[in-house]
Amino acid sequence: MSDEHTTPQGSRPSHRTAAIIPAAGRGVRLGPGAPKALRALGGLPMLVHAVRAMARARAVALVVVVAPPDGVSEVRRMLDEHPLPDGGTEVLVVPGGETRQQSVRHGLDALPVGVDAVLVHDAARPLVPVDTVEAVISALRDGAPAVVPAVPLADTVKEVEPAVGRAWEQVLGTPDRSRLRAVQTPQGFDRAVLAEAHERVACEGEGATDDAGMVERLGRPVVLVPGHEEAFKVTRPLDLVLAEAVLARRRAHDGY
Ligand code: CTP
Ligand code: MG
Repeated sequence: MSDEHTTPQGSRPSHRTAAIIPAAGRGVRLGPGAPKALRALGGLPMLVHAVRAMARARAVALVVVVAPPDGVSEVRRMLDEHPLPDGGTEVLVVPGGETRQQSVRHGLDALPVGVDAVLVHDAARPLVPVDTVEAVISALRDGAPAVVPAVPLADTVKEVEPAVGRAWEQVLGTPDRSRLRAVQTPQGFDRAVLAEAHERVACEGEGATDDAGMVERLGRPVVLVPGHEEAFKVTRPLDLVLAEAVLARRRAHDGY
């Protein structure tokens, strides 16, 4: 049997790496329209950009897309219409859940035996550069069980008391900005560590918005690598304008 994970030189990589792309959200903050991952950016669905961003990393042999539960066949068809340029990466589509945490769980459950490193990447971060993906994979290979790309904050952050029944929120404190980081995806994990986190951390309310936070709750170390400004999350309408501008800049600069 041929082994699709074998490198062109014929040697096996020490890790078999898969990427899970949670794409089952509705994109409420983006406003009315199709589910966020299916909205167009530069003429292609956001999800296609995200899948390509993962497949561009040579180590990624499998991408598991977690689609809206009622949209699995639509997403499958859409991905088949936009095949990966280099073909070598397998793409599975599975149905998602009510929360991001549940959607990631569904993706984890679909991973085949033999995968031992997992990236979890938001479909809503379609423009992450391959160097950021490679930096996460490289830290995993160097032995970190959980790796997160992160950037310093531009804004100062206040901790507040929610304004329940009062006119104003009250400030409780101002954390030292130099010690804060905004985290991005792909977050990378030793598969067993991420599976244990999803096994042991219950999904409460909206669930975890960040897989690394679940690993932290197990008491396992999480390390950071430099993130990238182009790995921003498309959340609100203005983010679409920024994403189109990034794509236009790439086209102008390197014929992307
Ligand atoms: N996600 C998911 N399953 C859910 C909720 C979210 O797979 N039940 C995914 C989204 O598709 C997205 C990523 O998690 O790629 C990050 O979530 P977010 O940016 O919050 O996207 P949405 O939940 O779609 O947006 P909103 O919160 O504005 O509705
Ligand atoms: Mg959300």
